[in-house]
Amino acid sequence: MKVAFYGHVRQYENIKSEIDHNLNEVLMSGSYVMGPMLSKFEAQAAEYFGSKHAIGVGNGTDAIWLSLMALGVGPGDEVITNANTFFATAEAAWIAGAAVVLVDCDPKTKCICPKAVEAAVTEKTKAIIPVHLYGQCADMRAIRAIADKHHLYVIEDNAQGIDGYGKDFKQGELSDAVCTSYIIQKNLGCFGDGGMVFTDCDKINAAVRRLRNHGSVARNKHSFGFNSRLDDLQAGILSAKMKHITAWTDQRIAIAAKYTEALKDCKSFDLPYVTPGFRHVFHLYVIEVKDSSKRDAFLDFLQKNGIDAKTHYSIAIHQQEGFPWGKECRISGSLANADKNAASCISLPMFPELRDDEIAYVIEKVREWDKANA
Ligand SMILES: Cc1ncc(COP(=O)(O)O)c(C=O)c1O
Repeated sequence: MKVAFYGHVRQYENIKSEIDHNLNEVLMSGSYVMGPMLSKFEAQAAEYFGSKHAIGVGNGTDAIWLSLMALGVGPGDEVITNANTFFATAEAAWIAGAAVVLVDCDPKTKCICPKAVEAAVTEKTKAIIPVHLYGQCADMRAIRAIADKHHLYVIEDNAQGIDGYGKDFKQGELSDAVCTSYIIQKNLGCFGDGGMVFTDCDKINAAVRRLRNHGSVARNKHSFGFNSRLDDLQAGILSAKMKHITAWTDQRIAIAAKYTEALKDCKSFDLPYVTPGFRHVFHLYVIEVKDSSKRDAFLDFLQKNGIDAKTHYSIAIHQQEGFPWGKECRISGSLANADKNAASCISLPMFPELRDDEIAYVIEKVREWDKANA
């Protein structure tokens, strides 16, 4: 049997008529960039998210650096994020011109460790980017408290966490802006690249809208800016898909529960930790191999058996070639948990359209490996 890591085509087939309807509407409108479908989707997204503004941009990386730039964060400033995120989080701060300061993650949740953030703050620190890694919200209450104490901006990276929430907070409630990616493999993905900034702040809204469109404030009037727009075809796809996101998340949670129930007695790896009361949206179902020297052999075993398992991420940011980019970037404190995560993580197939026979096969093979290696 073969089990894929993503189910993009299955998802398209399930809601083909809704997507095709929107694509046809855009194609026949003759308006493909900054057109009515983008405005419609931005309004729909703001309502869904509960934010005052939702601004479509070219991708999730741009969403982050445009937000930082909108807040005036740039050269001479430090931005703190966790070392075990996808490369783009740090890259975005670096593109904005700021120095990236990498801190460790919490050993259980894998999200940014608030104590490590507190220890990393200097007089140069301007912003914190907590990442809702793998689909679980970071400890936003603790991050907010640190930001209040030191007068810092908070930009949530929820590229992996859309539709999630914390025990006593919503995304966006405790930050200046929330940045998401709509690249196809995300829980809510278009058929190409896309991103969005959610914010209640009028200043960020106005600045990101200007910056994403060549600094344009009115026809033929420009200030400094870039080209980073969510096009109308992608907005149409997302508008159709957004109606299903809650049901798809529920499905991911149900699949995660099946994995967890069937694998909980395995001895050779740790299962994902869900903070009580949090809605973990399981963008990824990541297990950690206790003996990390066996991780690659385990991955190989799964792949040879037709299971497209992956690693997220086997090279942490500080382990990437060239880090620190420029002498201003730095690490703060021990990154032992991030190092362990990079060496031991394996992501099992996880998407809402995964069938029961595929889940059962993954479980069978994972258990087989555990029996032989525990
Ligand atoms: C945590 C995280 N941040 C940022 C990004 C960047 O998004 P994009 O690829 O749309 O630029 C991604 C995914 O790609 C991500 O997983």
